[in-house]
Amino acid sequence: MESLEAVVSRALAEFAATDDAAELERAKARYLGKQGELTARLKALGSLAPEARREAGARINEAKDRIEAALAARRAELASARLEARLAEEAIDVTLPGRGRGRGSIHPVIRTWRRIEEIFGSIGFDVADGPEIETDWHNFTALNQPENHPARSMYDTFYVDGHDAIGKPLLLRTHTSPMQVRYARMHRPPIKVIAPGRTYRVDSDATHSPMFHQVEGLWIDEDVSFADLKGVYTDFLRRFFETDDLRVRFRPSFFPFTEPSAEIDMMFSSGPLEGRWLEISGAGEVHPQVVRNFGLDPERYIGFAFGSGLERLTMLRYGIGDLRLFYDGDLRFLRQFV
Ligand code: DAH
Repeated sequence: MESLEAVVSRALAEFAATDDAAELERAKARYLGKQGELTARLKALGSLAPEARREAGARINEAKDRIEAALAARRAELASARLEARLAEEAIDVTLPGRGRGRGSIHPVIRTWRRIEEIFGSIGFDVADGPEIETDWHNFTALNQPENHPARSMYDTFYVDGHDAIGKPLLLRTHTSPMQVRYARMHRPPIKVIAPGRTYRVDSDATHSPMFHQVEGLWIDEDVSFADLKGVYTDFLRRFFETDDLRVRFRPSFFPFTEPSAEIDMMFSSGPLEGRWLEISGAGEVHPQVVRNFGLDPERYIGFAFGSGLERLTMLRYGIGDLRLFYDGDLRFLRQFV
């Protein structure tokens, strides 16, 4: 019969040879299980004489202890190898840089909006905000455009469902000028305010969008003249474009809510747009009828107003040729303004 020593060696070799936990347990069963080799030897002890039985039993038990010890050690080895493998597999390199979320940026038109607030704020203008859904009265009538006035056809208006208190249809404001009326009726002179915001017209091409932005300016006091308008607006343009290298002209024009009215043109004296007059804003001295609609006496109060397009200012500042780029949501375009 094979020596106990040989059986133990075989068991130990088999344990050492496998790295599979299930295989290890099967190997254990071959020695220590119900049908196992050592179990069989223990069972066979019954046929021996008592003296020999005690001695053989002790040797078998000793062999069994060695096999069990080897088994426990191998189990522990395999368990720790499994743990190591899992740790390696799930390892996180905490020194790697983070994944990083794409950073947003301020839309170029909104940058212009903020710049304008900053510049006019620095010379004492308040900033006001008002409704984009307007009444016919604020958008037209109070600005000296009575019903059927031909000047109303200058604006292709979006009307919305719903009516105001006097039964007139509500509309999307076609300009920020109604804010002159709203603000002036709520404040006492001196009135010095800008009102930037969204405006709407039925219009869409490379230089017109159905939604666009304007900034309204209004300065009313007892002696605010056209010369003040020229000074304030020219200074604004120089600060906005960060150059004194530009010329400004006030070209006679017509708006129902100003008299006299002007179109403000500017020209860069250097750079890619050098030498071309560019229309930048409407402006003028507020019409006496409009001052009256503010609830003020036009014999006493006078001042100027202007209304400028933010897209236009932004396009000139950055040299952008097509206004639709502002609204396409193309990140390649927008990322340039980070
Ligand atoms: N509201 C005019 C427009 O959208 C622009 C404008 C012109 C505003 C003259 C003014 C102004 O305040 O005085 O075309």
